Amino acid sequence: MSERRGSPRRMPRWWIAAALAALAAWEGLPQQLLHTRDTQWYVEAPTADWKRDGVRSVFVTANGIRVHLETTAEEGAGEAAVAARQHVLIVPGTGTGAGMFRRWPSKDDSMVAELSKRKGVVVTAVDLRGHGRTTVTPGPYSVELLAEDVAGAMRSAFPGEKFHVYGLSVGMGVAMVLALDHKDVVASISGNGFLFDRSVFQFDAWFFSRPFVTRALGMQLLATAAEMVLDINERGVFVEESRHMPLEGFVQTSLSWLDFNVTHRMHEYEAPMLLLSPDKDAKATGNSKAQFLRETAGCRAKVDIVEFAGFSHFMPFERGGPRRIVEAMVRSHGLGESA
Ligand SMILES: *[C@@H]1O[C@H](CO)[C@@H](O)[C@H](O)[C@H]1NC(C)=O
Repeated sequence: MSERRGSPRRMPRWWIAAALAALAAWEGLPQQLLHTRDTQWYVEAPTADWKRDGVRSVFVTANGIRVHLETTAEEGAGEAAVAARQHVLIVPGTGTGAGMFRRWPSKDDSMVAELSKRKGVVVTAVDLRGHGRTTVTPGPYSVELLAEDVAGAMRSAFPGEKFHVYGLSVGMGVAMVLALDHKDVVASISGNGFLFDRSVFQFDAWFFSRPFVTRALGMQLLATAAEMVLDINERGVFVEESRHMPLEGFVQTSLSWLDFNVTHRMHEYEAPMLLLSPDKDAKATGNSKAQFLRETAGCRAKVDIVEFAGFSHFMPFERGGPRRIVEAMVRSHGLGESA
């Protein structure tokens, strides 16, 4: 015994990992049973379609599922009138939904509000497969599959229309695939929080996309972790919203994060691109102006890269974020200038 006194034994690392896993399971199981299962969008919107704050809820069938959209396009507006406008399509990220872009940071300065202030701009936000009110199916959901869903939904809801696509996080990956494989629905792409090559191993992204982790944590603890890891300015937004989000969508979509690399197709891009780089995102996820510059070096399409100080991965939900994103979209893509 006495020989141990000089060098006290450290607690082995696996023991700490096991304790953390047990704690996560203990915290996560009741979450899943009591919380994420019983709170869905349907709590807020018991009927199929609703209208509020100038936004309409619409369902369309595409790629074999029911896709939920929120749009400012007027109901029954003549096709010619709708066609004369510029359409913006918002594609949310993993665990976020269409409604968040109408509610945060507040309904008067959200992405939907800021875009609607521009003359002739019609805004539509989509719920990805397994998210919000769009059908949950078995996974995994590749970015390519999500893009097929979104393209199909747009063709069905707005035949012949091209969209200025704004994507957040995995939604930006969807925007990239739309611009490559569904050119008929794309006028331009803009976005933040994703790279053309996401296949580089990154511990946080790997850890928070493991099904045993995501299922054990449940949506609310995942949201809490995301807010810490991503250093989000408006704390609580994601946690509050997570109560409306089916866990399965997060589990199945996160599996695609590190399985995405379209850098070899850079020469195929024709749509103008606006790549947004909030500085706190660079620290948290490695998405940076320098990285975008390297990746788009061989791209012949118009590429604008804009940096933002003080904003995080979730810039579109942060105070002043939507206004700056929309200003950049106006500068880069001429949004709201000609109808
Ligand atoms: C992504 O693809 C490019 C081009 O094919 C390749 O050079 C690069 O190594 C890939 N990234 C990873 C992490 O494998």
